[in-house]
Amino acid sequence: MDKLQMTGGVPLKGEVVIAGAKNAALPIMCACLLTNEPIELSNVPDLQDVRTMLKLLLEIGVMVDFPDKNDRSRLRLQASKIASSEATYEMVKTMRASILVLGPLLAKMGTAKVSLPGGCAIGARPVDQHIKGLKAMGAVIKIKGGYIQAEVKAENGRLQGASILTDMITVTGTENLLMAATLASGTTILENAAREPEVGDLAELLVKMGAKISGIGSDRLVIEGVDKLHAAEHSVIPDRIEAGTFLCAVAAAGGEIVLKRCRPETLDAVLVKLKEAGLKIEVGSDWIRATMKDRPKAVSFRTSEYPAFPTDMQAQLMSVNAIALGSSVVTETIFENRFMHVQELNRLGADIAIEGNTAIVQGVEKLSGAIVMATDLRASASLVIAGLAAQGETQVDRIYHLDRGYDRMELKLTQLGANIQRVK
Ligand code: EPU
Repeated sequence: MDKLQMTGGVPLKGEVVIAGAKNAALPIMCACLLTNEPIELSNVPDLQDVRTMLKLLLEIGVMVDFPDKNDRSRLRLQASKIASSEATYEMVKTMRASILVLGPLLAKMGTAKVSLPGGCAIGARPVDQHIKGLKAMGAVIKIKGGYIQAEVKAENGRLQGASILTDMITVTGTENLLMAATLASGTTILENAAREPEVGDLAELLVKMGAKISGIGSDRLVIEGVDKLHAAEHSVIPDRIEAGTFLCAVAAAGGEIVLKRCRPETLDAVLVKLKEAGLKIEVGSDWIRATMKDRPKAVSFRTSEYPAFPTDMQAQLMSVNAIALGSSVVTETIFENRFMHVQELNRLGADIAIEGNTAIVQGVEKLSGAIVMATDLRASASLVIAGLAAQGETQVDRIYHLDRGYDRMELKLTQLGANIQRVK
C-alpha cells in the first residue's frame, strides 16, 4: 500500500493547475447512459473514482475511448449497446457514486438493478430519497438481496413527470432524479434541489444533450421530459474542493501560490473563512493568488449545503485551525461521522476535542511529524496539509483514499516546492 512521506516546514511557492471536479465528472459520465449517441468530455480528472466509474460503465456495455492516447482528461463515451442494467455490490461498495447509474438506466432501459450502498466511514448515507423520488415518477422498486430492483411498468415504458420534494438536500439524489426526469413523460419539479455547482454542471451537459431544464443553479429544477437525448461535448468544471485544499495547504505551510484554471465564484464561503484566517487572496476570472506570511488565525465555521461552507472542506480547514492562533469551534452538519481525522491530527500534536457534531480546536504553535493513517478522502487531505506544516517527518498511510479524489496531488505539491514523496 502506498504512503506519502513529507518533511514539513517548507513554504509553498509557485503555480498549480486545478483539475476537473470529481463530483461533477462522476454524474456527467453516467449521463452518457441516457443516449445512444457519443458524449465527448474534456477536463476529466485522472483519479481512482473516475477509473472505477469507467469500469462500471464498461461492465454496463458503454464504449469508452480516449481520443488522444496521451491525454487522460479527454474521454468519449457511447452507450448505444447496453449489455446489463446492473451495478453490482462489488462496484457500489468500492464507490458509492455508482448509485448514479440508477436514474439514467431506469429512464433509458426501463429497468435497473443497483446494489444498496452500505454505511461508510463518514456516515450512514442512506439513498431513501433517490428511491422515493423514482417511485413518485412511477417506478416500481423492490429491495431484494441487498439490491434496489427498479422497473418502469407504465404502458409507454417511460417514467412519469412528478412533483418531488426531498426531505433533505441531497447532491447525488438531485442528480439521479434530474437525469431520470430528462426522459420521463411530462414535467418533473424537483423542490429542495441541491445547488452545488456540480449539479449545475451536470444540468448544463443535459441541456446540451437536448434536455429541457429550467431553474439551473436554484433549489427548484423544472424538467420537461423529452423522447430522446443526443450527442454533446462538455468540459467538466474545475474542482472547487481541490482548489480549496491547496489554499488550506498554503494557509498552513505559508508561502505564495497561484491556482490556475479554477472557478473562484464557486469558492466564496471557503475564501471568506480563509481571509478571516489571514490568507491574502487576489482573485481573477479563473485564477486565485494566495499569500500567507504569518501564523493563521483561528476561524470557527459550520458546514452546510452550497453556497455555505462545504463539508468536503471541513477536515482541511481544521488542519489550518490546528496550528492557528486562538481557538475555534467547527460544526459538521452534513455527515454524522466526519471527524475521523481528529485523532490523527492529535497524533501530530494538535489539541482537538470532539463533542457530538462539534470539534473544539485549541490552536498549537507547532505540530510535530508522526506516522498517521488516512481514513477517508478529505481526512487524508487534511493529514497531508498538517504534515506540510509540521516540524520533522510525517508519513500518511493508506493514501488510496487520497488517490480516489485528487489528481496527482503529491506531484502538484512537489511543483510548489513541498518536500513530499510517494513510497511504495
Ligand atoms: N441523505 C439521506 N438520504 C438520501 C440521501 C442523502 O438521508 O437519500 C443524507 C446523507 O446521509 C447526508 C446528507 O443527506 O447526511 C447529504 O448527503 P448527500 O446525498 O448530499 O451526499 P452524496 O450525494 O452522497 C455528495 C458528494 C460528497 C459530498 C456530499 C455533500 C458526490 C459523488 N459525492 O455525496 O463528496 O460530501 O455530496 O456535499 O458528489 C467527497 O468528495 O469527499 C464526498 C464525500
